[in-house]
Amino acid sequence: MTLSPPSPGHALVLVIDPARIPAERVERCLTREEKEQAGRFHFEKDARHWSACRAGLRWILGEALQADPAALLLETGTHGKPRLAAPLDSLHFNLSHCRDLALVALSADGPVGVDLEHADRAPTLLGCEEGFCHPDEIEELPADPTLRAGRLLELWTAKEALLKGLGTGMSLAPQSVSLASGKEDLAVDPRLGHFRRHRLVHALLDRHVACLAVPTAVTRIEIRCFHGS
Ligand SMILES: CC(C)(COP(=O)(O)OP(=O)(O)OC[C@H]1O[C@@H](n2cnc3c(N)ncnc32)[C@H](O)[C@@H]1OP(=O)(O)O)[C@@H](O)C(=O)NCCC(=O)NCCS
Repeated sequence: MTLSPPSPGHALVLVIDPARIPAERVERCLTREEKEQAGRFHFEKDARHWSACRAGLRWILGEALQADPAALLLETGTHGKPRLAAPLDSLHFNLSHCRDLALVALSADGPVGVDLEHADRAPTLLGCEEGFCHPDEIEELPADPTLRAGRLLELWTAKEALLKGLGTGMSLAPQSVSLASGKEDLAVDPRLGHFRRHRLVHALLDRHVACLAVPTAVTRIEIRCFHGS
């Protein structure tokens, strides 16, 4: 598969199965510092998962930019968001991983944020409403536990995607963002007015809930599986 960077107005979301990234590719894509970082995980399986996701990200960026993945310079924002260093910083990306899949979002229109969660996480959010929901959102939650859990997971992924787009992550209190009906129009929130959020729907994600936050200039989103070339 050849991979071109997305054109203006178009965001690309690549689905990676970290377990299928070959070990030799991980070895080839990671920098020395990243290998050292992987070595600091307590459990080997966590180190392998993190390394495969980071290698998948570098592999994708390398293909999109026709560059050596390990030589790409990644900088980190104040709250930990990685980005490409100049002069390649016009390609924006974000990564999200859960236990069995990872997503890499790419855009040429500005910062993006993506969040991926396994659908079975939904029931674990019951009782955590006040930890991440705005009071207006809590008021609208359905009482039925299954519906309520599903809505909570949607809110979680939407907020995490938006706050990852912004670069703050959850260091900006998610309870301060309202996605309650009538306030879905993010233009009402000056921090998030330049983003639009999209629930990602694709057969590859049928056991997951995923959301993408993109600049308002993005009008087309393509979701594809990434296997490398
Ligand atoms: C960003 C954040 C929501 C990610 O949570 P998570 O459960 O690990 O979720 P995901 O799998 O969706 O995303 C992880 C990826 O997001 C990216 N990321 C990290 N910080 C980010 C940020 N502030 N904004 C956007 N993306 C970020 C990285 O690529 C990271 O991958 P890595 O763990 O392999 O390095 C969470 O770490 C957070 O709120 N961080 C900001 C506040 C903070 O604690 N900062 C401390 C570091 S300065």
